[in-house]
Amino acid sequence: MINTGGEMKSLGLRKMLLTLRLDSIRSCMNRRNNVSRSLGLLKRRLSGIRSSDGGKVDRSENLTGNYFVTTPIFYVNAEPHIGHLHSALLADAAQRFQKLQNPAISTIFSTGTDEHGLKIQQSSMASGCDPLVFCNQVSHKFKALFDLVDIGYTDYIRTVEDRHKIAVGHFFNKLKDNGHIYQGNYSGWYCVSDEAYLTELQVREVHLQSGEKQLVSLESGHPVEWNSEDNYMFRLSSFQQDLQYWLKDDQRVQPERYLQQLRGWVSEDLHDLSVSRPKKRVSWGIPVPEDSKHTIYVWVDALVNYLTVAGYPEQMVWPPDVQVLGKDILRFHGIYWPALLMAAGLDPPNKLLCHSHWTIEGEKMSKSKGNVVCPKDRVERYTSDGLRYFLLREGTPHSDSSWSDTRAVRLLNAELADSLGNLMNRCTAQSLNPHQQRPPLCLQYKENMPLSGQKLVEQLVMLPDLVEKHYTDFNFYRGIDVIMAAVRQANVFVQEERPWELKNQTDRRKLDSVLRVALEAVRTAGIALQPIVPRLASCLLDATGVPDHQRCWNSLHLGFYNVNQDDLSTSYKLGARTKLFRKIKD
Ligand code: MSP
Repeated sequence: MINTGGEMKSLGLRKMLLTLRLDSIRSCMNRRNNVSRSLGLLKRRLSGIRSSDGGKVDRSENLTGNYFVTTPIFYVNAEPHIGHLHSALLADAAQRFQKLQNPAISTIFSTGTDEHGLKIQQSSMASGCDPLVFCNQVSHKFKALFDLVDIGYTDYIRTVEDRHKIAVGHFFNKLKDNGHIYQGNYSGWYCVSDEAYLTELQVREVHLQSGEKQLVSLESGHPVEWNSEDNYMFRLSSFQQDLQYWLKDDQRVQPERYLQQLRGWVSEDLHDLSVSRPKKRVSWGIPVPEDSKHTIYVWVDALVNYLTVAGYPEQMVWPPDVQVLGKDILRFHGIYWPALLMAAGLDPPNKLLCHSHWTIEGEKMSKSKGNVVCPKDRVERYTSDGLRYFLLREGTPHSDSSWSDTRAVRLLNAELADSLGNLMNRCTAQSLNPHQQRPPLCLQYKENMPLSGQKLVEQLVMLPDLVEKHYTDFNFYRGIDVIMAAVRQANVFVQEERPWELKNQTDRRKLDSVLRVALEAVRTAGIALQPIVPRLASCLLDATGVPDHQRCWNSLHLGFYNVNQDDLSTSYKLGARTKLFRKIKD
C-alpha cells in the first residue's frame, strides 16, 4: 500500500497495537515516571491516524497491486556462497510465482549488500584496502552472481549509498523524537562475526586446540569479546506486548517452527538494545545524527535498507509482503526489526519467510569454517537453471539440507535430462509429428485411455491447485515434487502406448491422441516450472509452441480435460526445439 509521509496505515492492526501499548503503559505507571510523555506520544499517534486515514484501510484495498519482497542484504566480508544464493533464490521464485499468477502486478524485489560495521572494517583492514574499494569489489561479485543466476531483483541496494544514509539518519531521529532512545552504558559480550550483542546466557566456553579457552556465541559458535562503552540505547523492552500481538497471527512467520521459536524468545525478558558504537571503535558506519562521536549500530543501519528501497522517508510502498531470511538472523528480523518499525510509527512486515541452512558434513556453510561451495563454479558445471533446480528441490525451509555434488549430478541427470528432456523429445519428435503441429485429440481415445493415461490426466487436473498451495507456502520443493510425479507418469504412459510403433498406421488418430496427452504434460510442467527454472521452462514452452499470452498460471486450466468432442485444433504450431538439459558427467 502507498504510505504517505511514512505513517502506519493498517488501521486495524495499529489500533490494536495502540490499545496493547496503552495497557502496557498503564501497567508501567507505578514503575516509571514517564507516563505523561508516553501518553502524549500515544495521543499524537492516535490523532495522526484519524486525520490521515479517516477510514478503514486493509490489504484488500491495496489498489496499487504491488508485491514487495526482500532478501537480507549480504555482508561483503566474503564472497558469495551457495547459502547466500539460497536466500536470494527463494525470494526470486516467490516473485516470479506472483507475476505468473497476476501478470499485471508490479513488484518490488530488493536485494543488495551490507557494507558497514566492525566486521567489514576489520576485513578491509586485513586486506590492506580502503574500505570503500574493498566493499565495491565484493558487492560487485554478489551482483554479478545474482545476474548470472537470473535473480530478478528490481533494486540492488548498498548501504554505502547516499539515499540509504539519509534514510538511516531520518529513522534514527524518528526513534529519538518518539522517545524510544536514551543514552546509557552497555557492558556485555559482543560477537563481531554476527555483529550481535549477547547476554551471559547466550555465550559458552570452548577449549581451543591450542589448549586455550575461548568464549563463543551459543547460537553461532563465533568468538565473542567483552565490551563496555557509552552507547545510545533503544527501549526494546517496552515493545514486548506489541511483539507478542504481532506474532499472534499464525501466518506471520513461516515455517511454523520458526514462529514458535520467536514466540518463545519474545516471552522471555527483552533487554534494551544498544544502537550505536563509539566512533573510535567503529568508524566505518553512518554517524549518529548530531553526535559524530558515535556510529549507528550496523544492524539498525542494515535493517533500514528495506525502508530505503521503499522510498523512505518520502512517499513509500510499505510494508513488505514477505521478507526472506535465514534462521541465523531470525532474532534481528523477528524482534528488533518489528519493534524498531513500531517505534518509528510504521507497520511491521506482513510475513517473514525463514529458511534453514545448507550444511557440509553437518556444519553450516560459512567462510569462517572454510567449507563453502562456490556458486559460480556450480553454474559452470550444472548451468544456472541446474543450480536453481537443485537448490530449490533439495533446500527445505524447515530443516537444514546437506550439500552433495554426487546427489546434484544424479538428481539433475535423472529429472531434468532424463525425465523431462526425454518426454519433451518424445512428443515433439519430427519422426512422430512430421507436420510439427499440436496434434488433435480424439474423443473416443480420451474416453478409453489406458490406466496410465487416466492416472496422468488425474495428476494434471490436480496439479495447478496443489502446486499453487505449495508455492504459496514457499514450499517450492513440494511443488516440484508434484510436477515431477506428473512428468514421470507421462513417461510411463508414453512407454506403454509406444507411439513409435503407431507411426506407420494409416489411421493417425491414436498416435495423435497419445502425443497430445503427453504434450499436455510438457505444457503443464513448462508453465508450473517457470518460477524455478525460467530458462528451461521457456525452452519447454517454446518447443511445444505455447504462445506468450498462454504462459501464465491461469493457462494451466486450459487443458483438454473438459472437452467433450474431438479437439481438432491443430493450428498450434510447435516451436524450435533445443536440447533441454545436457547430461552432466560424473
Ligand atoms: N548482513 C546480514 C543481513 C542483514 S539484513 C538486514 C547477514 N548477512 S550474511 O551475508 O551473513 O547472510 C545473508 C543471508 O545468507 C542470510 O539469510 C543467511 O541466513 C544466508 N546464509 C548464509 N549462510 C547460509 C547457509 N549456509 N545456508 C543457507 N543460508 C545461509 O546476515
